[in-house]
Amino acid sequence: MKSLTANELRKRFIQFFVDRGHVQISGASVIPENDPTVLFTTAGMHPLVPYILGQEHPAGKRLTDYQKCIRTGDIDSVGDPHHLTCFEMLGNWSLGDYFKKEMIPWSYEFLTQVLEIPAEKLSVTVFEGEDGIPRDTESAELWHSMGIPYERIYFMPREDNWWGPAGETGPCGPDTEMFIDTGRPACGPNCKPGCSCGKYFEVWNDVLMQYRKTKDGKFVEMERKCIDTGMGIERTIAILQGKKSVYETEVMQPILKAIGQKAGVTYGENEATDVSMRIIADHIRTSTFILGDQRGVSPSNVGQGYILRRLIRRAVRHGKKLGIQGAFLAEIAKVVVDLYGEPYPEILENKERVYSELTAEEEKFSLTLEKGEKQFEKMTYFLEKQGVKEIAGGSAFKLYDTYGFPIELTKELAAEKGFTVDEKGFEEAFAKHQELSRTAESGQFKSGLGDHSEQTTALHTATHMLQAALRQVLGPEVGQKGSNITPERLRFDFTYHEKMTPEQIKQVEDIVNQQIARDLKVTVQTMTPEQAVESGAMAFFSSKYGEQVTVYSIGDFSKEVCAGPHVEHTGDMGHFHILKEESSSAGVRRIKAVLEKGN
Ligand code: ALA
Repeated sequence: MKSLTANELRKRFIQFFVDRGHVQISGASVIPENDPTVLFTTAGMHPLVPYILGQEHPAGKRLTDYQKCIRTGDIDSVGDPHHLTCFEMLGNWSLGDYFKKEMIPWSYEFLTQVLEIPAEKLSVTVFEGEDGIPRDTESAELWHSMGIPYERIYFMPREDNWWGPAGETGPCGPDTEMFIDTGRPACGPNCKPGCSCGKYFEVWNDVLMQYRKTKDGKFVEMERKCIDTGMGIERTIAILQGKKSVYETEVMQPILKAIGQKAGVTYGENEATDVSMRIIADHIRTSTFILGDQRGVSPSNVGQGYILRRLIRRAVRHGKKLGIQGAFLAEIAKVVVDLYGEPYPEILENKERVYSELTAEEEKFSLTLEKGEKQFEKMTYFLEKQGVKEIAGGSAFKLYDTYGFPIELTKELAAEKGFTVDEKGFEEAFAKHQELSRTAESGQFKSGLGDHSEQTTALHTATHMLQAALRQVLGPEVGQKGSNITPERLRFDFTYHEKMTPEQIKQVEDIVNQQIARDLKVTVQTMTPEQAVESGAMAFFSSKYGEQVTVYSIGDFSKEVCAGPHVEHTGDMGHFHILKEESSSAGVRRIKAVLEKGN
């Protein structure tokens, strides 16, 4: 196998597909835009869902990129040698262009020629079929024709080899996954690709979107077929380099070394300190990706900000466990910036913000961490005496409310002492004190796909109109800071220095409603970011020089760089109504608004 670094793998993958007619596009922000179903971008495909669903992409039908992805479903597993909360995904897409008979030979060629993986180590899985959807023999035959013997082509059910649709209906299809046999002994007679024992390592996934699920649950073959593939960089370089773990590769070693220097320990010498070092390395790497993102958020108690807060606070605690004195996170983040500033220039651009936010959160938490730990010790001491092994919800809430312990941190401390936490009791105590957002948030991990229903599309158009109206009423200081849309409402964060007056709110509502009533036509044009700015379009997120972007115009009222989708005419959107205007953070206001149907 070819021992490649992350930088080399990234370049070779992209070049391979550029040589085959693909356009390299910039990866998107890790904070999804207009997608309430997930907190973070979880795959390269995620920002491309509208194009897979049929919208035309400005860069064409063959795309490739690398995408920073965050998956926080198992933060608590980080610490072992394998889990990461943040990784890079390589991908290529066919948007109604080539299909299996090009993709499978390319996959084989890339794996065996570029990565030099011996063909005899490769196994693949394909979809076995079920009622109403045929078995994917075409993919199996293609693999076979490349030289993979039938005994290494595994037919698997829908749980393993199927993708989509993104909502109830729409494009979906089987996938075919490629595995490297690590040479370890099989764990039993049923051991095969997909088994979790570690013998088989999944290196790449080709999703083959060939069906459309209809309202009555049928799967209809589509004319316009799509391909979506994904390869994780960190895991792949670990296997190519013959390393046992991603933490032994060049993307993690410098971070671990810096932590080791601060703590006076060496990675690989003691399992207990290794666990803390991996937690800090992973969490600061991910925090740097979130804070340094083009749409970076700050630590807070909701949504992405809460995940960020958990990551930072857990890192602080493990730093303390290692005996590190004083603030250290920014120093570790510098190593991450050095590693990723080139492939992700936004991280370099935002580095001062990364360091200052990390240090601020670290200092804030350090003040209460020690006191909270003492409180925790006291609690468990008395419970132990009574023979009780569960921490009451109210006590966990006190640790949260008074000492800033995220519930997950309390659970981790508790587990280390053989205690459990009454989480339900905690949620109840929490709900009593403030509007509950965490329950909703944990539901957001379930799906990785955007909602493109009629309601969210109309609210998306309303968001553009709201921004244009705000700029008319409040002036050019107003700029988008964030947007989150569910089928029920829009939420829009924007820069502005003070609370809006009731008159201003009314004015904004009136303007939006007048414009809706004009039944403006929504049009889309493709151009470079420079042309977009020149044409007067608002553009809030960076894109690469020379790249093509789409610009949505709502009549003569609004013009913005945006990926869509939007309504075609404003006339049927309904009545725009602002429910709430409040502070979101320093210098940032938040509006929640709805579109009311009927009279
Ligand atoms: N979207 C596919 C994945 O995440 C490629 O595996």
